[in-house]
Amino acid sequence: MTSLTAANAADLVAALLFILSLAGLSQHRTARSGVAFGIAGMALALAATVIVASRSISAGAVTLIVVSMALGGAIGLWRAKRVEMTEMPELIAVLHSFVGLAAVLVGWNSYLEVEAHGAAQTAVASDLLGIHHAEVFIGIFIGAVTFTGSIVAFLKLSARIASRPLMLPGKNALNLGALGAFVGLTVWFTVSPGLGLVIAVTVLALALGWHLVASIGGGDMPVVVSMLNSYSGWAAAAAGFLLDNNLLIVTGALVGSSGAYLSYIMCKAMNRSFVSVIAGGFGVEAPAGGGSGEEEGEHREVQAAEAAELLAGARSVVITPGYGMAVAQAQHPVAELTRRLRERGVQVRFGVHPVAGRLPGHMNVLLAEAKVPYDIVLEMDEINDDFAATDVVLVIGANDTVNPAAEEDPSSPIAGMPVLKVWEAGQVIVFKRSMASGYAGVQNPLFFRENSSMLFGDAKQSTEQILTALDALTPVGAGR
Ligand code: TAP
Repeated sequence: MTSLTAANAADLVAALLFILSLAGLSQHRTARSGVAFGIAGMALALAATVIVASRSISAGAVTLIVVSMALGGAIGLWRAKRVEMTEMPELIAVLHSFVGLAAVLVGWNSYLEVEAHGAAQTAVASDLLGIHHAEVFIGIFIGAVTFTGSIVAFLKLSARIASRPLMLPGKNALNLGALGAFVGLTVWFTVSPGLGLVIAVTVLALALGWHLVASIGGGDMPVVVSMLNSYSGWAAAAAGFLLDNNLLIVTGALVGSSGAYLSYIMCKAMNRSFVSVIAGGFGVEAPAGGGSGEEEGEHREVQAAEAAELLAGARSVVITPGYGMAVAQAQHPVAELTRRLRERGVQVRFGVHPVAGRLPGHMNVLLAEAKVPYDIVLEMDEINDDFAATDVVLVIGANDTVNPAAEEDPSSPIAGMPVLKVWEAGQVIVFKRSMASGYAGVQNPLFFRENSSMLFGDAKQSTEQILTALDALTPVGAGR
């Protein structure tokens, strides 16, 4: 067997490992093996690529590739080890931007190579030159949209820029115009290629990527992250066509289609139009009001000792965790509180919103880490009808996902998004540090309801204070 056939066989095995990886990642139970399959597939793919490349380039160039891979791998490991769970979406957005940038560079390189050497001396057959030109243009376009789109997503997710949607006048026409211009430029480039056109499509796509993501606001950001994941897959597939690398095409298509499907599922969960979100909030007009972070009345405060009494006297308690629980790393004391209340005979359950936190499944991962039993962790649809019969709800660091304005105020930027109906419960205690708004930048009328009270402070400290106060109450079994 030659090194080339071995490398081709390795490509095939790597593609299968990537498919197994996706299958494994679809369930908690098999997620670890999914990650292991992915790592094995990627190691194999990299080795095969270097082996194939080494046949046509100098030993010096191979050394350069290996050194850059080692350097990139080391930086990746160092960053991934340091990153906090709450910063994961930002990291993912940055990584997507690298894929986009790589696709742009591959496209430019491919164009300049054919220009410099002529089709005859490159891998491109002259009768396929038109197709090659179209591939260059499409690769650069998807890559550049992904690049700037991911940078804006990173800036929004890390709160370096405001998360509210940019509402330029005629934004839909701008997006459609840019798409039309891209089609026109592609036809022109295929017929008569030139450097000016490559520069024009790059600038156009960079601007479009920026505008598309800047136009999508607050509550829709989870969909944007998975949409950019999909775009980065298609950018990689486009680069695969240019580099004549089948594995890159297969891998890119897998990432592209699974990312698109995840975006679709998230849009359904959030009652959003898939087409509208991927088209940069197409058809969504600026909110008439309701989007302000202004306070809307008087709020009441409660201390940990009172909260502990209320909990000890309750028959049923629902905990709705959110991003603040992740920031405070409060999952362990929350799990302990759950255990203590259950010992006292209180029914405790969790209500998890599909986009609570900053990652799909964020809350489930934290609660599993703290060993909260799976059977008391319920999805939003499973628990939403039970709030009216619940004595006390603890809103631990959640805000947008429990905001009644989504149901009651059609002018709110989060109008129509399904939320946990915590306000229907007897008493609601909101754990947060201030009256600040949540990720979407929208004020929450829940805080001013008669049955709500605020327990100000870091969620971990507040929960620990409740645990201490519970200890001081009548012992288990003696009081109720
Ligand atoms: P958010 O609406 O983001 O609100 C979190 C709240 O936690 C804040 O109001 C904050 O108030 C509080 N908080 C922060 N640190 C805290 C601490 N140490 N102790 C106590 N409270 C703390 O949370 P959510 O309800 O989970 O909603 C998630 C939002 O993120 C949605 O808008 C969603 O669309 C968006 N998003 C989600 C994802 C995914 S995939 N899940 C990805 C990107 C964006 P204080 O500052 O006053 O404490």
